Amino acid sequence: MMQTDWISGQELADQLNISRTAIWKQIVSLKEAGYAIESHKKTGYHLIDQGDRLTPLAIEQHLQTKQLGRKILHLEETETTQRIAHEQAQQGAPEGTLIVCDYQTNGRGQLGRTWHEARGAGIAMSLILRPEAPLHQAGQLTLIAGIALAKVLRTLQVPVTIKWPNDLLIANRKVAGILTEMQTEADRINSVIIGIGINVQHKDFPEVLADRATSLKLATGQSFARAEIVALFLNEFEHMYQRWLIDGFASFVSEWEHHADRLNQEVTLRTRQVSVTGYLRGIQSDGTLQVETAEGIKTFHSAELIYW
Ligand code: BTN
Repeated sequence: MMQTDWISGQELADQLNISRTAIWKQIVSLKEAGYAIESHKKTGYHLIDQGDRLTPLAIEQHLQTKQLGRKILHLEETETTQRIAHEQAQQGAPEGTLIVCDYQTNGRGQLGRTWHEARGAGIAMSLILRPEAPLHQAGQLTLIAGIALAKVLRTLQVPVTIKWPNDLLIANRKVAGILTEMQTEADRINSVIIGIGINVQHKDFPEVLADRATSLKLATGQSFARAEIVALFLNEFEHMYQRWLIDGFASFVSEWEHHADRLNQEVTLRTRQVSVTGYLRGIQSDGTLQVETAEGIKTFHSAELIYW
């Protein structure tokens, strides 16, 4: 090992103009945060491995976008990245601003549910977009984000499918979810916040989720770098987002159906008013779901497919 790999506590203290005790305290918290740091009385400190960090630097290493993720706000811990993203959007954060955090203590899911998180194991991120598009089309971004994430995970050899509208599954268990929220002004979109949660390194789940959730690690036995997944998603999604802004949603239908879970199979879905059983026939050019029932084809803007 080269001598330059090591730095003494005194050198660090001099460079940063703080005490050696302060350096030591920072090293302890860096170790707790997942950095592998070797300490030696004579030679000082040595960074062996940055660990699976979700820092801007780690994400930027894989980023090829023009705008998405070019401004990243990274938090070690927060209640929900959605709230931070809403605040940032209100304060004028530019399109593409990304909020990521290592540990989300009160993650929000669809339909008022919570999103379970394990410290340092998942990806919790919220992306701010400012599309010039009619309000009613904003939900299509959820579908496009789902396709982008499915494509990325499939390139990493993970066999995911999409449960309409926004769950990613591996063998019938949920591995990722998307929550799209909007800020509007009169009848125009001010911002769209796309919140994505991905279970990456989780080794287990609370009992209530145990038979319906999975992680990339549990499902494949492999480890994945969270920062790389974030960047690959942004790279993919940026192209698709630009395409959507220019050409609309119609050209995404076949891509979505390619990843669709239970296509042409019998499903049951629930809306606020009714429960319907029929064959899932895909989506229309506006993103609505089509189900063939005994009474004919029915179209749904919002509904929940009942799997579990
Ligand atoms: C769902 O499947 O119910 C949607 C889950 C969305 C979770 C993500 S994690 C990042 C962002 N912050 C939140 O509080 N929720 C979304």
